[in-house]
Amino acid sequence: MNRPKALATRPLFPAARAILDASFDVDYWPVQDKIPRAELLRRIAGCDALICLLTEKIDDELLAAAPKLRIVSTVSVGYDHIDVPACTRRNVMVTNTPGVLDDTTADLAWALLMAVARRVVEGDAWMRTGGWPGWELDQLLGGDVHGKTLGVIGFGRIGRGVARRSLGFQMKVLYHDSARVPAEIERELCAEFVPLERLLRDSDFVTLHVPLTDGTRHLISTSTLNQMKSTAYLINTSRGPVVDEAALAQALNEKKIAGAALDVYENEPRVHPALLARRDVVLEPHIGSASIETRTKMAVMAATNAAEFFAGRRPPNALNADALRK
Ligand code: GLV
Repeated sequence: MNRPKALATRPLFPAARAILDASFDVDYWPVQDKIPRAELLRRIAGCDALICLLTEKIDDELLAAAPKLRIVSTVSVGYDHIDVPACTRRNVMVTNTPGVLDDTTADLAWALLMAVARRVVEGDAWMRTGGWPGWELDQLLGGDVHGKTLGVIGFGRIGRGVARRSLGFQMKVLYHDSARVPAEIERELCAEFVPLERLLRDSDFVTLHVPLTDGTRHLISTSTLNQMKSTAYLINTSRGPVVDEAALAQALNEKKIAGAALDVYENEPRVHPALLARRDVVLEPHIGSASIETRTKMAVMAATNAAEFFAGRRPPNALNADALRK
């Protein structure tokens, strides 16, 4: 019997390959670099399944080039790179990898928060110049973290994980989302649901954990930055376009806020040049989920979603299963 064909846009990890190889004839893009678009369009032509990353745009053009495609399984929780309605129209299932990366991403949000407040990256760079003259009273003064107010925008699994970590720092937690979470979660995390305006006005740290949608694009703009404290820091581990980078650079220039720490960018892999030049900004290359354990789990999950689908079962992380033709 002919086995279904899959394209994996990276070599993945052995544990994920074992799952895929048991169910599919797999064409693995052989290197850990982005597959060129033309190559992706060429290789997808006869495939039944696609295992992709968030850097690959899955749009109508790609779907048209893949008439046999039945499932797109992304190795990411975010799926703003996939035109899900277009997939649904063509009866293509879409799956993602929720849950396994929450704590790892929350850890990174905290690493960024600490780094920007306590000027860790600037200190490291200074030490490497060999130019540190020794202890001084006013060197690299930052902001305290403990006892401050943490504002969490988007109180899903990752946002809550960030809030949970703040308990050890005796912080006050404000959160904003489209809906309130159950009272027992608010109690457990000592978190108060507030309107966005209040969160921006009262928080010392504003951390973003929303998906990218039409409603969250440029949520952080000149107008929202103007509402923040001049001593506050912005942390973004969600999606780059949630922040208007030009507005952020201007707000930092005008000292409207004290600093920012970013893991994601509006036009990855490019970073707004005005941000690159600033010392009050910490920049990381989209590594929120980048621990060995978590990235392995994500790849295994993506492979499992595809394999389950071709075994005739509903994949555990189906995004549009109910909308597909039976
Ligand atoms: C990472 O950004 C993801 O969406 O998994």
